[in-house]
Amino acid sequence: MNLYAGIALLLLACVGNAAWWAILVNRTHSLPFQQVVLESVRKLHDVGIIVFPPFIFWMAGCEQPGLLHGGSVAELSGMIQSILGFALCGLVPFTWSVGRWHIRQHPQQLLETTSQHFDVLGNCQTDSEEQLVRGNRVPLLARFPMNEVYCLEVTRKRLRLTGRQSHKSGHTRTIRVAHFSDTHFAGCPGKRFFDFATDRLCELQPDLFVFTGDLIDDETLFPWASEMFTRLSDVATCYSILGNHDWRLDYSGIRQGIVDVGWIDVGQRQLTTRVDDVTMLLAGTEAPWIGRNPEVPNPMNEDIRILLSHSPDQRNFAVEQQFDLMLCGHNHGGQVVLPVIGPVYAPSKYGVKYAGGTYRHQQMLIHVSRGLAAKEALRWNACPEVTLLEIEVS
Ligand SMILES: [Fe+2]
Repeated sequence: MNLYAGIALLLLACVGNAAWWAILVNRTHSLPFQQVVLESVRKLHDVGIIVFPPFIFWMAGCEQPGLLHGGSVAELSGMIQSILGFALCGLVPFTWSVGRWHIRQHPQQLLETTSQHFDVLGNCQTDSEEQLVRGNRVPLLARFPMNEVYCLEVTRKRLRLTGRQSHKSGHTRTIRVAHFSDTHFAGCPGKRFFDFATDRLCELQPDLFVFTGDLIDDETLFPWASEMFTRLSDVATCYSILGNHDWRLDYSGIRQGIVDVGWIDVGQRQLTTRVDDVTMLLAGTEAPWIGRNPEVPNPMNEDIRILLSHSPDQRNFAVEQQFDLMLCGHNHGGQVVLPVIGPVYAPSKYGVKYAGGTYRHQQMLIHVSRGLAAKEALRWNACPEVTLLEIEVS
């Protein structure tokens, strides 16, 4: 094997190795493991990705007869051949994931998307305003170039619910749902960022607000959450569930705190409500972290069914129970979306398939919010967002 082919093969093995570690992190973070386990997996992932390149270049490239010295794969020891082969196999899921990202298509039921982008930090007039947007605990990560952690995108999406689930009434009615998720109050971004997001949400004047979990990481900041959620409940009816980050804290107390400011908690339960003349079954699930998926009545007597699920991993349950629309958070848009490659990390059993955006699974629409914040203050090409869903029901 010539030198360049040897280098290319070893580099590809490094990419494949990284892909396996990313898969391990994504899958484990989709399950209800304790934080200590997840942190261990992340450390293992870091070591595995950093150590592998020098290891494989030395053992398969430089050790005689190495691939960088004119040797062939057949001349390597059985153990090194196995490691090299396993790493190269990681290119299969990697290529699949990148390819799927590039050929992704919006579902037909997504009729129109418009969005407005705000640079909340960039628009500050004074240093003190800037400080309030940055927050009181600004990690080094937040200062990375092109970090969008202090930006906000307000997106309007017009959806049409069609097919078996929608009752045909002869005329089209529209309900307006403002969906936001993953506030992760942790001190960065600061309170002023959330005040700005709350202002934008209030301006949307929806029929209802829905929040799909991961409210808080630092319980001492609950007053921030309380103020935001109180303001929203003054504007429209509000429904919420919790997420895996809330599950790690006193989640019963967090749930009660949201209910106390006028929100309706739908975790593990369902209710029927009416918006204008549209009857809607609204249910929530915080599985696999808190409780089980809710019992849903059959047959359906309502016009539409909407499920709030922190993770899109409950997709199959939602389809089985004839939901028309599933609203989720959790995946943060992948948080870091690389050029060409796309997102790499999303804590889902489906990997980055549902990183963020609108998808169709069988007859059901899925909208995954990128959320407003994250525990780690880093976002590239995954701008924080709030979304107004204008849902046409016919
Ligand atoms: Fe989250």
